[in-house]
Amino acid sequence: MAADEIFVFDAYGTLFDVHSASARLSEKVGPTASRLSEVWRIKQLEYTWIYAAAGRQVTFWELTERSLDYAIEVTGTQIDDATRAALLDAYRELSPYPEVVATLTRLRERGAKLAILSNGDPDLLERVVDRAGLAGTFDAVLSVVDAGTFKPHSAVYRLAVEAFDRPPQDIIFCSSNRWDIAGGAAFGFSCVWINRMRVPNEYPDLAPARVLGSLEGLLEPAINNR
Ligand code: LAC
Repeated sequence: MAADEIFVFDAYGTLFDVHSASARLSEKVGPTASRLSEVWRIKQLEYTWIYAAAGRQVTFWELTERSLDYAIEVTGTQIDDATRAALLDAYRELSPYPEVVATLTRLRERGAKLAILSNGDPDLLERVVDRAGLAGTFDAVLSVVDAGTFKPHSAVYRLAVEAFDRPPQDIIFCSSNRWDIAGGAAFGFSCVWINRMRVPNEYPDLAPARVLGSLEGLLEPAINNR
């Protein structure tokens, strides 16, 4: 049974801690570091939704830079160009959440197939995966560039179906972004919401099959993705 499992993971916020960049540089960024990081992430996502809905192509990295600049300005953060560059470098090498490497290793050991499906550009994903020591862990690292849009467009989720040649319901899609789970559920994936921050539920008509506090719950034998 385990050999049939296919886990497809969102990257940013699910495997990699998007707030680890600002946290690493918090002394240089100053008292607004935490707020800056929140705005950075919110704006980055908003930009992806707008470009997807408008049918305009742009790289995830371009949006990451623009959203950082907006966050710097709106939070009144005083940083020099070197610190801005260091924040972007840190974003290229975000830390994985503490349980990620061990959990993915155990899932692989039991025969599961693993993939990433992310808004990230291919080079960005390769670097963050390598940096986390996860090179070779995934059967596929799927970037939205091959769909020409961003999540939650169905063309993005279809990349996983095509990569594994299996119907959506055979794929366990894991994301900590509730809106991404809504998109995955609408597409037909069997969804697991990794609710790390214990935030309130949303999108009641596009619900996950399971809700977990971290990836570790995936190791429980009770997983039923049908
Ligand atoms: C991703 C963003 C949505 O990795 O977290 O696709």
